[in-house]
Amino acid sequence: MIIVFGSINMDVNMRVKRFPKAGETVLAHSYTMTPGGKGANQALASARIGAKTALVGKVGDDGAGLRILNYLKRHEVMTSGVATSEEMPTGMATVMRDSAGENSIVVASGANAEVNAEQVPSNILGANNVLLCQMELPLEQNALVMKTAHDTGAKVVMNLAPAIAIPKQLLALVDYLIVNQIEAEQLAKTLKIDAQKNTASLAQKLAKQNNVTCIVTMGGKGVVVAEPNGKGFSFPALKIKQVVDTAGAGDCFCGTFTACLHEGRTLMAAVKMATVASGLSCQTKGIMKSYPYLSDIEEAMETMPEAVSI
Ligand code: RIB
Repeated sequence: MIIVFGSINMDVNMRVKRFPKAGETVLAHSYTMTPGGKGANQALASARIGAKTALVGKVGDDGAGLRILNYLKRHEVMTSGVATSEEMPTGMATVMRDSAGENSIVVASGANAEVNAEQVPSNILGANNVLLCQMELPLEQNALVMKTAHDTGAKVVMNLAPAIAIPKQLLALVDYLIVNQIEAEQLAKTLKIDAQKNTASLAQKLAKQNNVTCIVTMGGKGVVVAEPNGKGFSFPALKIKQVVDTAGAGDCFCGTFTACLHEGRTLMAAVKMATVASGLSCQTKGIMKSYPYLSDIEEAMETMPEAVSI
């Protein structure tokens, strides 16, 4: 089973021509409210390709929380590990998309700030299971769950999003680290790694120094992977007709990658499928509803080239 220990938000989506500058107001013609949160998105991407996926998190005792949980259940995500806060409302995110399909997000944590590691029963971690976490939950709770997962032999996949100054001891518990280019650079700063000449050498440095497989997603430029033993490879992004919406594409990558890994695919195959899935998700408006099914991914895989060594 895949256990996603992660955030759950109601996303307020606004389409703007361009993002406002400091002190400026811009108008969005309309808005929608849809289930989101990096944890919930990643759990849905994983379940969408058929992997048994449980989400552990917290929502408020409100309509938003109820609506999100119903949506996740309908899409095969197990939600019995999601608690309800008596004090805090469901997390809320403002997701702005500009006319180029790029996004900018502000998150108000709400009930996510109350998530507790004890919500994850230790008997569901273990060698056959994979833990997937991100950084929208309290760091100390993430650390506790990662430690238990590591000790029980479960693989730990960590998406360092948003990038926070993560202690080195926590990185030592991670098997697969997934970051985008900005997050990789922020992490390098925290770890006092000198500027590197390109993303591949930065990934290699991060992998070697922290004994972790480091996966750096680069949007339209594809993905680069570095293993602690010095091996590495890259894939270009999936060729798509038009980028409509990049919001949640990173979450789609993380969920698909983890599901593929859990199903026993090789690192390279898992990265390739996740690259295809996240590319496909950019062709449609919205986050969860843009995530592809296994058959869509398999069909689009045919257009992907072989990996190139780095
Ligand atoms: O990665 C996209 C997600 O980030 C959104 O769904 C929003 O809720 C924030 O968590």
